[in-house]
Amino acid sequence: MNCAQDERVFFGEVFILRTLEWDASSQRLKMIDQRVLPAKFEIIYLNTYQSVSEAIKNMTVRGAPAIGVSAAFGMVLAALQSGAADLTGLRSDLHAAAHELEAARPTAVNLPWALKRMLAVVDAPHASVHDLRETLLKEAQAMADEDVEMNRRIGRFGAELIADGDTIIHHCNTGALATVDWGTALGVIRMAHEQGKKIHVLVDETRPRLQGARLTAWELSQYKIPYDIISDNAAGYFLRTGQVNKVFFGGDRVARNGDVANKIGSYMLALAAHANAVPVYSVIPTSTIDMSLASGDEIEIEERSQDEVLDIQIAGEAATPQGASARNPAFDVTPHELLAGLVTEKGVIRPPFEANLIKIMQK
Ligand code: MRU
Repeated sequence: MNCAQDERVFFGEVFILRTLEWDASSQRLKMIDQRVLPAKFEIIYLNTYQSVSEAIKNMTVRGAPAIGVSAAFGMVLAALQSGAADLTGLRSDLHAAAHELEAARPTAVNLPWALKRMLAVVDAPHASVHDLRETLLKEAQAMADEDVEMNRRIGRFGAELIADGDTIIHHCNTGALATVDWGTALGVIRMAHEQGKKIHVLVDETRPRLQGARLTAWELSQYKIPYDIISDNAAGYFLRTGQVNKVFFGGDRVARNGDVANKIGSYMLALAAHANAVPVYSVIPTSTIDMSLASGDEIEIEERSQDEVLDIQIAGEAATPQGASARNPAFDVTPHELLAGLVTEKGVIRPPFEANLIKIMQK
């Protein structure tokens, strides 16, 4: 892994570097290291699929769409790493790599979705190993470009839900950093801001990895969108006192009945919003919808290391007793009854979710 600092690119005052992209000159995958933001802006270069798998696991790259596209480029690296001289050998190496990449994180469906798409290329007829390598790169590149295009389309549909003057609670990070660029739920907020609507965002800090306080707040600063960071447990207060108009979050896997698995804390937030008649929207590309699952109960929830919960300091000292133990589910499921809509690149899906999801997925 190599690092290069200060490759930040601004257009006017807005940051435009993609979260991840293929570096053609060095034949490596280049990505922003999300573990060190906002204190440091670092770019890392990955030249093996194993290092891509590790980057997904340790959350150097995170967010459902971003990990899907990273895995796609991981397959490109696996093809370059393979010493196989014929197509049979290369295909076998690529299936093994896909298996390892898919195991990196279990909840977001975008990861198996992207690998399935890459494996369809692997298993299609090719003239040579060179031809297969080239086609894999083109497919990963297409996925990256489609992601950005799709997010902008989602943004335009979602922005119609936002009124001038709205205060919005946003959970986790769903911005450019969670995708290849632009973002999903945060992309909706960014689109409404670009349309001239005055918006205020209450940014859930999103314990334990603080994707909200670190990454969403950093992105909102880049886009000059006004915000306040709130502790996750303050959301109920703001909702009950009438200070919030809408809640927007992303999604990592949506079952066909509309239940949404998203960052831990989304369920609690949706419950409080629903109890106070504040609409909740999950913003997702349709690649996040898993029609094979009848309900959210079937979604595997990743449980991460307890250190992520326990490693906190107050005044430079450990805030938890030595030997304390913790539980750390990384996602929870918001039942569809709590949602006002799912915002996708094909439009806003309203209840009844199952019937409408079937219709939209057939489009
Ligand atoms: O654990 P993370 O940071 O990868 O979780 C990310 C989220 O839950 C996002 O809200 C979700 O992936 C949607 S991102 C567009």
